[in-house]
This record gives sequence, C-alpha cells and structure tokens, in this order.
Amino acid sequence: MCGIVGYAGRGCAAQELYSGLKKLEYRGYDSAGISTVCNGSLYTVKRSGRVEGLQSSLGCLAGSAGIGHTRWATHGEANDSNAHPHVCGRFALVHNGIIENYAELREELRAAGHTFLSQTDSEVIVRLIDSCYGGDILGAMRLACARLKGCWALAVLCAAFNGFAVARRGSPVIVGVGRDGCYAASDIYALAGRAHSYCVLGEGDMALVTAGGIQVFNGEGEEIFPPFERVTERFAEVGTDDCPHYMLKEIRENARTMRATCKKFLSSVDVCALSARLSSADKIVLVGCGTAYNAALAGARILGWACDCPVSACIAGEARYDPPSFTKNSVCIAVSQSGETADTLRAAEIARGAGACVIAVTNVGYSAVTRIAHTVLPVCAGAEVCVAATKSYIGQLVCLHLMAAGARIKERAECILKLADEVEKLASDGEYASTIAKLCARSRAVFFLGRGCDVEVAVEGSLKLKEVSYIFSDGYPAGELKHGTLALVDETVLSVVLVCDEGLADKCLNAVEQILSRRGRVAVITTLPRVAERLKGRVQAVWLLPPAPFHVACFLSATALQLIAYRTAVLLGRDPDKPRNLAKSVTVE
Ligand code: F6R
Repeated sequence: MCGIVGYAGRGCAAQELYSGLKKLEYRGYDSAGISTVCNGSLYTVKRSGRVEGLQSSLGCLAGSAGIGHTRWATHGEANDSNAHPHVCGRFALVHNGIIENYAELREELRAAGHTFLSQTDSEVIVRLIDSCYGGDILGAMRLACARLKGCWALAVLCAAFNGFAVARRGSPVIVGVGRDGCYAASDIYALAGRAHSYCVLGEGDMALVTAGGIQVFNGEGEEIFPPFERVTERFAEVGTDDCPHYMLKEIRENARTMRATCKKFLSSVDVCALSARLSSADKIVLVGCGTAYNAALAGARILGWACDCPVSACIAGEARYDPPSFTKNSVCIAVSQSGETADTLRAAEIARGAGACVIAVTNVGYSAVTRIAHTVLPVCAGAEVCVAATKSYIGQLVCLHLMAAGARIKERAECILKLADEVEKLASDGEYASTIAKLCARSRAVFFLGRGCDVEVAVEGSLKLKEVSYIFSDGYPAGELKHGTLALVDETVLSVVLVCDEGLADKCLNAVEQILSRRGRVAVITTLPRVAERLKGRVQAVWLLPPAPFHVACFLSATALQLIAYRTAVLLGRDPDKPRNLAKSVTVE
C-alpha cells in the first residue's frame, strides 16, 4: 500500500530509485514519482499510471540522492498532481500511510498562506516540515510528526542536504547499506541485489541517509545503533520463470510452500509448548483480513475440533473496535502474509494489551506482527509478488492444520506432504480450470458453494475470482442458498459447487438440484468419484480431484479455485498480477 524508496550514493539516483520502485509496484500502481537533489536544487518527475511511465523522464533527474514513490490512492484520485513526491519550498516528500487530522492541518496551513497543489493528506506533511525548518532536517521532521495523527513512513529530501531522511510510525521502513550507496524502502525486496545489510527501523525512529552511511535516531532524537542483518539470497529478485504471470507461477509454488512450511514448522516450533498453550486457553480468536481472514476461518473450524475452549475467527478491522474480551489465558492468532496489515496489527496489539498470548502466522519474518507476537509460526511461501494472495494462503493453512494436530502432528505433516505431490500435478492443469474459467467469464455472477470444510474454501475462491476478474461473486454454505440467494439464480449465473466431504455430499447435491431446477448453470469440483459419475452430463462441468481426506482436501480445492480465477482473468484480458483498485500490504485503515 504505497511504496517508498530512497537512495544516496555514488550511482545515478534516478536509475536506482526507478529499479527499487519497480519492485515495490505491488504496493500500489495508481501513480509514481521520483525527486532527486543535485547542487542545492530539487528535480521532480511524477505522473499517474505505472512506474514504467517514468522511464522516459529519468534523464531529467540529476543527482546521486533522491526519493521515490508508487501510489495506492487513498485521498484524492489517481492523477498527476496527487502523485508523490509532494514539494514545498526546499523539501520534497513521499509518504506511505494516512494522516487522519490532515483536514484541520490543511486549514491551519492555508490560513498561514500555503496554497495546496493536491487533494492528498500527504501534502500537509511536507508543508509542516518546511514551516518547522530552521536548518535541522530531523528537528523539523520531529516537530512536524508531533502534529500528525495516523500512520506514516516518510522519506524526505532537502535541497540543502545531499542525502535524505526517513521516519516511521505505523508503516514500515527498512534501511540498507550497499557497495554503491545507502538505501531505504518499504520492504526488503526493493533492496535485494543492491544492499548487503539491512535494518528494520523501529516504531518512531528516524534516520539520516547519505552516501557515507546511515545514522539512526530514536523518537527522542538520541542516536541509536540497531543491529544490521545480512541481506540473504532468500530476498533475491524473483522473476515469473516460464509463466506469463506471477499469479500462475505462485499457484504452481503451492506444493513447494506446503513442503517448506511443514519442514520449518517441525524443525523450529516448540510443538509441546504450543499445544500446552492452546489446551490451557479460555478462548482462541483468529484475526486477519481478506484472504488471511479466510484462512483464519478455516483455522477456527479445525482448531475448534481440536481444542476444548471456544474458537472463533474475527475480521481484524472489526476486532479492533469491538474486541473479544481477552484475558491472560486467551490466545489470539494473527494471520497475515505481509505482517504489516494495519487492522491485523492493531487487533493483535489489543489482544496483547489485554494479556492474551499472541501467535503470528506470517510469511514475512521481520514484519511488524512478529514484534507484537509472543510466538511466530513461519509461512514459507517466499516472495509473493502477485497482489492476489495464493501460495501464502496455502502456507497459512499448513500452519493452522499443524497447530490443530496436537500430538498427531507427524501424521498430519505426512498427510500434507503426500498431498503436496498431488497439488503439484494439479497446479499444472490447463484443461479443467480453463473449462470452468470459460463458464465464469460468460457469467453475470458466480456463486461458490460448499458444506463443512468446503465452505471456507468457497469463500476464498469467491474472493480470488472477484479480485482478479471483476465478476461479481459470493461464497457461502450450499445449504444457505435456498434461504434467499436462490432468487438470483438463472441461466446467466454460474454456481461452482465444492463436494469434498462424503458425509455431506448428498446434502450438497440437493443444492445442485435446486439450482438446476431454476435453469442455473453448475460446475462441480469434487474429490469423490461417485459424485463426479452422478453429475457427469447433468451439469456444465465436473472436475474430479484426486482423493483426499475431507479435512485436508482444501489444499487441492483451493488450488483448483485459484487456477480458475487466474484463467478467468486472463480470458477477460485483466492483469491478474495487478488487479484494479488493489494493493498488497494494506498499511492503512
Ligand atoms: C487477497 C489479498 C488480500 C490480503 C489482505 C490481508 O488476495 O491479498 O485480501 O489477504 O489484504 O493481507 P495480509 O495477509 O498481508 O495481512
């Protein structure tokens, strides 16, 4: 959600910043911009659209220090004037976050004679910094930040300084040292291949970055010396390999994620301590947003079977304002790919503040949620570049299943590893996914239905389809259809029905019959040969998946639904890697 970069070194700042922004584009692609400083002057290029749109103007950006931004619009539409950097006097600024009191500050600055050039909340920050400046950049930033409410990661350029400054509260900033200079960015992947060591700035910290090095200061302005870690190969730049899109490549990495997450869990998690914590809990609440929430929903079901206490899943954005009544015996499981989602972090902080034990399930080992959590369960999906979460969801499911397995963890891990081989074969399927994708692409709306464990997979399948194809869709229990939604079913609507639980299969088939009687179209995805046999020729498509115990069939069915969403997006000419209006890592509320 907005990406910021900074560079000060011996190289060409514009090129360095451009290449950093390309890697951060998953955080937003409404507009992009770069400012550089050279011999006491600032140079700025910014425009709406993707980072690539800056390439032809890089030659206008002189200097070896600068800052850059790729935007996901919050305040003000995606046009050139709302693009960052915002410039005022001798300062240029890029911002990731939201300033909640910007309207009051804007009025105050207007009264003091400022003329605003954008509709953004961010412009008030650069104007405040300029008004507070008396020769000390960090001093001015500190005074300005003290006036702000909300969250921010800032990179600031000053015409009088051949470097840049960064500050953070609530949004991430990583600083790094490389052979050719020093860097800052919203995530470590933007530094990969350039920095050899990095440090994640702490909450409220600031840093001054020049070609010669990085000085870090705490919120009181005292210099501090946090440790720098080595940038390892696992952060190396990732390509799409032979796939046309990251989304397909990442779905094909589901099996690898299952194996790596299992291995890491078994080798690094203190399973006895974890089981003891869960079995002594008075309640377990899983929190997350979007796909991570859908994983939390699945986790709540399986943990509910395994634990004696009440287990529930809560949308993190709701939990933060109406938190469950946590006690010191409660457990909060925060599920987040990025580990930076503002709503999830706040929900986890509230749980921790109430004395609950916080367990993070995350794909990013250095992320903010790991600093809130008492225990971290690593998802080993590697970099997920596509904005739509796929392999990270599969990794989250692995962690939650292993967590719920208790003493039978070895058995569960073996079962998951066996399924990984099937998932690998499935992910290379073109035929069935394409058949169902063609049906989706021709539909006014698509419903994803299932019963039991299939419900949560259906809900996630629906989110995946709507976000990458822009077709309206909904996912919920098949038995619920007749209580209202059946009114929407006609020949323009497709229902994708998951049937992976023999115990509930006949109930699910009732829903299929109800849809067919209303001339609705149906595609069935099942692990049960008898269901496939019975429906062949009666419904538009039947995809028979390999057999799997019903409680772990999610790894197969979720992969199938991810493929269908991907193929539908491609058929409709959408960009599945960068769907409209979305961004990864939602660091604002
Ligand atoms: C959907 C998607 C989002 C994220 C959500 C939470 O494909 O990517 O719904 O799942 O924004 O993000 P994390 O998991 O980073 O907390």
